Amino acid sequence: MKFSSISSVLALAASVAAVPQKRCAGNSTVPYTVISGVKVIDTPLVRKARELMEANFEPFLIRHVYRTWLFGAAAINNNATLSAKIDVEAHAVACLLHDVGWDTRDNSPFVSNDKRFEVDAAIYTANFLRENGIKGEWSPHRIQNVWHGIALHGTSNIGLFSEEINVAFIVESINMDYPGPHPRFPVEDYDHIIADYSFDGLGEGTNRAFTHIAATKPAATYDTFLEPWGVAFVEGYNPVGHRLFDRGNPNVTSPPPTKRNVHGTY
Ligand SMILES: *[C@@H]1O[C@H](CO)[C@@H](O)[C@H](O)[C@H]1NC(C)=O
Ligand SMILES: *[C@@H]1O[C@H](CO)[C@@H](O)[C@H](O)[C@H]1NC(C)=O
Ligand SMILES: *[C@@H]1O[C@H](CO)[C@@H](O)[C@H](O)[C@H]1NC(C)=O
Repeated sequence: MKFSSISSVLALAASVAAVPQKRCAGNSTVPYTVISGVKVIDTPLVRKARELMEANFEPFLIRHVYRTWLFGAAAINNNATLSAKIDVEAHAVACLLHDVGWDTRDNSPFVSNDKRFEVDAAIYTANFLRENGIKGEWSPHRIQNVWHGIALHGTSNIGLFSEEINVAFIVESINMDYPGPHPRFPVEDYDHIIADYSFDGLGEGTNRAFTHIAATKPAATYDTFLEPWGVAFVEGYNPVGHRLFDRGNPNVTSPPPTKRNVHGTY
């Protein structure tokens, strides 16, 4: 018996004991397919999310979101707790759509002119689930998990600690996309995934996307991890006066911000 079959038996036992989630990996009625040697959920909704990425985004980004989904799926298949608790359909859609806020086209259907890119993607994906999910299957709680997993993926030092494992694990899966085998799943899975979905263009593409966001909506990037891209690559970009530091530190003499949001930080 392969280790993965042992863990699915454990997962089944655990899913009976725990309150079962719809579409968890331990649910034998859920349809699956295999991509790069990894068993993944295959529903019309997940296919629609895949098609949406493939129709609208550059190859480097498509490969990035597939890697996050497949790394996460490989980890779920290799861990009884995750198999019992993770809503694999929500996880798949969240991983696949988490970066739609990187669209650099004019009049993008995915991008606002005032919100962080993670929030754009969280809002888009929640609406995508409400519009395309089977009616009655997408409770507000399932959708909230996806919303929070996507919204927090860039601030993993918060998101990874969510008390809701479905939120924390979406964040964890997205943050698995760095070179090097991941301890959560066998190295063979890792090798198969990166053979099919290489890292080519990830660094350059990330630079382009973050620079574009800092240039087109700087106010949404001050005091976030995108700020250094603005400082380094965008002419005229100046976060001084827009940071919490500028109002929190009595020795700073920069002028007070002219625009207020509910938090008064930008
Ligand atoms: C298994 O998945 C089916 C199809 O989504 C769903 O109707 C059913 O409630 C799920 N069962 C469990 C125990 O999660
Ligand atoms: C399985 O995943 C859970 C949840 O992330 C974790 O706490 C646990 O340590 C993992 N088990 C193994 C054997 O890696
Ligand atoms: C403000 O400047 C004074 C003099 O340089 C320094 O002693 C003090 O620690 C500074 N306070 C803060 C909050 O940076």
